[in-house]
Amino acid sequence: MDANAPKRKEARKSLRIKVISMGNAEVGKSCIIKRYCEKRFVPKYLATIGIDYGVTKVQVRDREIKVNIFDMAGHPFFYEVRNEFYKDTQGVILVYDVGQKESFDALDAWLAEMKQELGPHGNMDNIVFVVCANKVGHGREPRLCCKVLSAYCYRGHFFFSSLSIASLPKPGGAAPHPAVLCQLGQGDGCLPLRSPHCCLVLSPRDEVNKAYRKLAVLLHPDKCVAPGSEDAFKAVVNARTALLKNIK
Ligand code: GTP
Ligand code: MG
Repeated sequence: MDANAPKRKEARKSLRIKVISMGNAEVGKSCIIKRYCEKRFVPKYLATIGIDYGVTKVQVRDREIKVNIFDMAGHPFFYEVRNEFYKDTQGVILVYDVGQKESFDALDAWLAEMKQELGPHGNMDNIVFVVCANKVGHGREPRLCCKVLSAYCYRGHFFFSSLSIASLPKPGGAAPHPAVLCQLGQGDGCLPLRSPHCCLVLSPRDEVNKAYRKLAVLLHPDKCVAPGSEDAFKAVVNARTALLKNIK
């Protein structure tokens, strides 16, 4: 019998990773994730209510990786919902809009929020950070990228919205190594540029319920075994209750 067979079987077993998106409202986090997971681009701005969820599979060498992406709402209003999702994270996509300097400046505050939520014993050393300069095109050049590169490239990567480079943790939790996952190909060529003002229109009751049902189906402990999914499910239930209370 081949003595290496069990090892090879182990290597082929699928691995799950948890990735979160962070960045100001309207910078394009959900679009990037939808493009990546569902291969579609959404031109209309639909503010994420609390949190959204995307999942996709990628093959890295002989291993199948299930990428669970928790897409955070960027608006400060949703802090109470998204703060539940920082733990057990292995990868972070930090997104800014190249046409909005303040969205770039805000990246530090996003990292600070994550640090605060993970607490004094939270370790961010093994988390891989990817900075994404989004909405590149139509003369919107990523002039901020040099600063970003120097600020965030420790254990991280940088990409523009037309190209995604991400990293995966090595099996066993050791220091991460880079792996090219996908080409995003955003579609700026046919999109009008939007005004750089963020605005949030709260969805009515049925919009909240719709978002809740979508997430509940994905995150229910009977359906999802991704790290943190049980807590995520509880957070979604709490978020729905809190939001419905506020919608009269
Ligand atoms: P929140 O959920 O509120 O945090 O926002 P978000 O960061 O998820 O933004 P979203 O992905 O919903 O995108 C906001 C708007 O930017 C939408 O109207 C998108 O169509 C638009 N958008 C996203 N990516 C691009 C891009 O690469 N180029 C252009 N021109 N528009 C984009
Ligand atoms: Mg969103």
